Amino acid sequence: MAMLSPSILSADFSILGEQTKILEDAGTDMLHIDVMDGMFVPNISMGFPVYSSLRPKTKLTFDVHLMIEKPENHVATAAKSGADIITVHAEACTHLHRMIANIHELGCKAGVALNPATPLNVLEYVIDDLDLILIMTVNPGFGGQKFIESMLPKIRKCREMADKSPSKPLIELDGGVTLDNAKACLDAGADILVSGSSVFKGDIAENVKKFKTIMQ
Ligand code: DX5
Ligand code: ZN
Repeated sequence: MAMLSPSILSADFSILGEQTKILEDAGTDMLHIDVMDGMFVPNISMGFPVYSSLRPKTKLTFDVHLMIEKPENHVATAAKSGADIITVHAEACTHLHRMIANIHELGCKAGVALNPATPLNVLEYVIDDLDLILIMTVNPGFGGQKFIESMLPKIRKCREMADKSPSKPLIELDGGVTLDNAKACLDAGADILVSGSSVFKGDIAENVKKFKTIMQ
């Protein structure tokens, strides 16, 4: 069954602990944590102490998406702060192969994210080392953007690549995923759907249940 990873970028940060509990109780699988630096993307979100403070309060898998330059300077802190999965952007890594090995040495699962314009072939020589491939379905930096439809053939192609790899990496989609397009995303081959605004707008538990119904 596919998994849901709600992006806390759309949460109410003043009650983040309470909202995390609502997500966990509603049966969500992971927590998607967007770390932005105002350099790799034009926005600044949250830093490591934010999710580190959540770590003792939840058993959810921490799915940390680093939208930062020079991630090699920060992965150790990302791991120490409680990440289970650390995803770096291919566009931010001069030494992507070494970066993936470093994430594994830190005891975390390793993911690589691709911006919409980045072709899948950058994964050719690292895919067998990956636990996760994150296909950005918006240009990263902000929640609430519109899903880029032309990513659907990219997802399908990525599915073929992932199925051929002995590492069997999971495919995660991030950006503009809604209750309306979730089925199309799953049909294209996604294993994990990230969703921010569509989970946190209105009744969180109800939204999670609706997503989970589509994912069954
Ligand atoms: C965008 C972030 C996403 C974002 C998704 O740069 O990486 O995780 O929070 O939010 P929605 O679902 O609102 O597009
Ligand atoms: Zn994200």
